[in-house]
Amino acid sequence: MSVSPPAGAPLLVTCGLPYANGPCHVGHLRTYVPGDVYVRMLRKMGERPVFVCGSDTHGTPILVNAEELGVPPRELVERYHRHFEETFAALSIRFDVFGSTDSPENHRRTAEVVEVLRERGHIYPRTIELAHCPKCNRFLPDRYVEGICPHCGSPARGDECDLGCRRHLEPGEIKDPRCRLCGSPARPRPQEHYFFRLSRFRDFLLDYLEKLEGTPNARHYAREWVQKELRDWCITRNLEWGVKFPGSDLVVYVWVDAPIGYIAFTPAWESVWKKPSRIVHFIGGDIVYHHCIFWPALLQGAGYTLPRAVVASGMLTIEGNKFSKSRGYVVWVKDDYLDRGLHPDLLRYYLTATTSHTRELDFSWRLFQEKVNNELVAILGNFAHRTLSFTQRNFGRVPGEPVEPGVAEKMEQARGEVLQAVRDYEFKKMVDGAISLAVHGNGYFQAREPWKLLGEDRATVGSISRGCLQMLRGLSLLLEPVMPRKMEELWQMLGETIPLGSARLEAEYLREIPAGRILPPPRPLFEKLEDEKVLQLEAVLRRRLEEARARGKKED
Ligand code: MF3
Ligand code: ZN
Repeated sequence: MSVSPPAGAPLLVTCGLPYANGPCHVGHLRTYVPGDVYVRMLRKMGERPVFVCGSDTHGTPILVNAEELGVPPRELVERYHRHFEETFAALSIRFDVFGSTDSPENHRRTAEVVEVLRERGHIYPRTIELAHCPKCNRFLPDRYVEGICPHCGSPARGDECDLGCRRHLEPGEIKDPRCRLCGSPARPRPQEHYFFRLSRFRDFLLDYLEKLEGTPNARHYAREWVQKELRDWCITRNLEWGVKFPGSDLVVYVWVDAPIGYIAFTPAWESVWKKPSRIVHFIGGDIVYHHCIFWPALLQGAGYTLPRAVVASGMLTIEGNKFSKSRGYVVWVKDDYLDRGLHPDLLRYYLTATTSHTRELDFSWRLFQEKVNNELVAILGNFAHRTLSFTQRNFGRVPGEPVEPGVAEKMEQARGEVLQAVRDYEFKKMVDGAISLAVHGNGYFQAREPWKLLGEDRATVGSISRGCLQMLRGLSLLLEPVMPRKMEELWQMLGETIPLGSARLEAEYLREIPAGRILPPPRPLFEKLEDEKVLQLEAVLRRRLEEARARGKKED
């Protein structure tokens, strides 16, 4: 088992695949923004990660939705595939590949994995009793059935106890099953399905989870589940839409072909999935079970390379409430954010800089405003603007005096904090490390009062200006992963011409800006977010809650 392959082995970073089933909301971004920040930071550190993601196109939620809308599933999936691509591009979330689990490659890779598992005896057939709706005259896989969780008694869906204990439910397990389409009580009916011998992988998983890197929440939850019980896993469904289970009329369960998408989307996949490599999965905290139990067992069973790290985020709440589309606690990225003229980097910053990756994160427009105004405008923007305009006014070019010694020291300290935070998957600490340099820069400029020395000691003024310019340059490098566009603007205001995205920390971080360089006219980097705007944004959310409440009443 190679959880710790050599440094320099191919590095693959993935993000959990969004279901192509509805628009992107802020909750999604807790996976994609930190994933993108991480990859950009690795590139800054001189690594060459490949970053892949794609649409999860199968499974019953998509079928239920397509049926309700009266469109073929393929059409729905293509619509949201484009939507996610566009939204990610607008947010500077840049995957090397954004594939689809319905692609021919993924059908092929999935069939291969299933064949090998079968040859090796990890798959067997068994007849089970499945929920069947007598009125609709159909089987009710996964989301087509609703009932009560056998483990905790919460209302649950056929495949998952989403409101209660969050356990995965096997076909036939749910209590008091009802048809989601017509509401009739479902009846059990026998049918032959295929099972993956997950129970065989207990010792393997306990050992694997010991070595698994990433955030501790992932391995801890997974270990608890493995220690409790590990039952074989039904990996087929009777549906038309999906990847065919070789040699039958069934399709594989969506949680088989979806993660295999990670393989199918990887360029030269064998060099990553059949050789020692470093695979890092970014996922939401709600799919730890699938990524730390099913997935490594499937890979181990079929003889593929195992992921080295799973980075699992905490959940997102909206103004302190549990995220819920039906109750209206949702913020849509396109309609509620981008289309209202808000800069994508501000949201990237908020999501990265608010709390530790594994904690619950609250999205609130007030907190968003505070972050923007108190940190980006008052600290970073202010430091940039006063430095650049002071230099411009008094020198017209980059002064030639040497930087005072404390500056490089402080810069080194900030870089050290940032790099350590990346290694710990602590993205907030990464931002804090950088912002502490901006705080220091502001304090330095304020305490030295260079404007008072202009008449008597121009050389010292030059040193101070130059030191502040160097700190700004360092800041644009440290914060580019979080705010790529804003930091590119800052970089250009410092007269740099190579793209910031390709500048490596090692070579560039302490490089001196050439004396005498003429700087372009400075512009403010960030604008204050006014109360009036915040009220408008809050009103959108309030309206949505009211609409949801009205809908709820009508349905009662
Ligand atoms: N579509 C799933 C979800 O949103 C995630 C699939 S991740 C993969 O919960 F590993 F299966 F690809
Ligand atoms: Zn439950």
